[in-house]
Amino acid sequence: MTAVAKRLKAQALLFFGPPGAGKGTQAHAVAVEFGIPHISTGEMLREAARKRTPLGLAAQVRMDRGELVSDEVVSAIAAERIARPDCASGFILDGFPRTIGQAEFLDALLDEQGRGKPLVLYIQVNSGSLLKRLGGRRICPVCGRIYNMYFNPPQHDEVCDADGARLVRRADDNDGAILHRLESYTTLTRPLIEYYRERKVLVDVDGDRAPDEVTRDVIQWVTAA
Ligand code: AP5
Repeated sequence: MTAVAKRLKAQALLFFGPPGAGKGTQAHAVAVEFGIPHISTGEMLREAARKRTPLGLAAQVRMDRGELVSDEVVSAIAAERIARPDCASGFILDGFPRTIGQAEFLDALLDEQGRGKPLVLYIQVNSGSLLKRLGGRRICPVCGRIYNMYFNPPQHDEVCDADGARLVRRADDNDGAILHRLESYTTLTRPLIEYYRERKVLVDVDGDRAPDEVTRDVIQWVTAA
């Protein structure tokens, strides 16, 4: 076991919460702190769409509408990514699992690999700020830095502070898709809260604070004593 693995409470860290809760923001910070991979199924699907692979193009239609991609497709890409050597000591899953079927798949996979139980960080945010977070999100297409026009704007209007590139909006950050994403979360993803609470692996994180404050809290939760 490496030093990194010893510092973590669990090998599989799951960042869970509604769209816009800050899963990507927090997962990135923890990945940097512990030197482990940050696996975002949403980002993997967007990357496949950018490369215009058959899987990516099929997924894009659903993502742009704010619907979930099928359990089979997403579970397969998550399993393939977790099997890579850089995940040997631990990894972060951001946006997976999102249905009971995906959670059962992941449990079986972690069991099979002898990795122990996951630790689930449930980031809670009130619904008013979720809409501002999603509607105000802008991304640098060059370096991937995430901004928010309400809470964390760039120094110059819609331009990346780091490289001067014009910021873009995600295709699913429009009113119609946001509504669908919130509905999918309520009906298909929220039931996972009970699923993981019953298994005593879920911790509640107050996400309605400045990002750095949330990160400090999250790092305490994931660090082994
Ligand atoms: P995905 O990419 O996972 O999107 P999501 O779940 O909708 O979550 P977001 O990325 O929108 O939000 P986030 O919680 O990461 O917040 P962020 O840190 O960016 O999935 C996209 C699509 O892919 C899905 O709709 C589905 O179609 C498909 N998909 C993916 N996984 C799937 C799966 N497992 N099964 C089936 N389909 C799947 O922050 C948001 C904004 O808020 C930013 O602007 C940020 O700067 C700001 N912010 C963050 N934290 C704070 C804070 N503390 N205070 C103020 N502002 C903050």
